[in-house]
Amino acid sequence: MKVCIVGASGKLGQYTVQHALDRGYEVVGVCREKSVAKLDRFRDSITIVAGATNDRTVIRKAVEGCDAVLTVLVPWGVQQYASGTAQAVLDYAEKDARLIFSCGWHISRDGKDVYSWKLRFMVNVFGTIARALRMVELDDQVEACRRVFASDTRWTVVRGSDLEEGESQGLPVWSQHVGDAVLESNRTRRIDFALFMVEAITNDELVQQAPAIVGCRTDSAIKHAPDHTRA
Ligand SMILES: NC(=O)c1ccc[n+]([C@@H]2O[C@H](COP(=O)([O-])OP(=O)(O)OC[C@H]3O[C@@H](n4cnc5c(N)ncnc54)[C@H](OP(=O)(O)O)[C@@H]3O)[C@@H](O)[C@H]2O)c1
Repeated sequence: MKVCIVGASGKLGQYTVQHALDRGYEVVGVCREKSVAKLDRFRDSITIVAGATNDRTVIRKAVEGCDAVLTVLVPWGVQQYASGTAQAVLDYAEKDARLIFSCGWHISRDGKDVYSWKLRFMVNVFGTIARALRMVELDDQVEACRRVFASDTRWTVVRGSDLEEGESQGLPVWSQHVGDAVLESNRTRRIDFALFMVEAITNDELVQQAPAIVGCRTDSAIKHAPDHTRA
């Protein structure tokens, strides 16, 4: 299995690289030139392609021959980074490759998610301030996911809850919609978010799904997780 990880130098990215290596996968990591040093500990075990991830030539080179492409970015800035990266992945990944994209709960596939006032408030306030300061374009993340949802590739969009650091607790459980009781705890360890991304590569049940995930040891998961969402 050859896997390309776009955003390998980030926090989620580095955990994802480690999980992929633990499974014996060959890994190609894509990150910005200035971040290559963050991958020093993997230097001898992965191939690094340096460059802007919305540069189509960078993605074209990195995804060549890959069985799966995992995108784990928070593209700070306002240059259509998220949609540019997603489009390049959709266009250049091998036919039938598994494409796994990460995002937050704020992305909705079918409009049936039920958000708490707190999450709606955070997205509205953060989105407005971030756009005004040219920090990040939430609208562009929405557009990136719209393009993924519309594609006929073998995609999965993994929607992460609030994250925390810490030892792995195991594979997160998931549900179709934010607002489902199982997700109520709204907390996942970042290392386990990465685990879910890598597990999704070989889980055909998740093809063309947008699972919203939560830590498997959280109260809501323990109380409400149906068996089929457990590892
Ligand atoms: N943080 C949360 O609470 C949270 C909650 C739910 C879901 N998520 C999802 O989790 C994923 C990763 O989150 P994280 O918290 O692990 O983020 P992170 O570690 O801060 O990673 C950010 C990544 O984005 C890259 N990046 C930032 N700005 C960029 C730009 N302008 N151009 C290209 N690359 C850029 C960084 O590259 P460099 O290494 O080059 O800086 C890094 O690889 C995202 O999909 C996010 O939506 C996060």
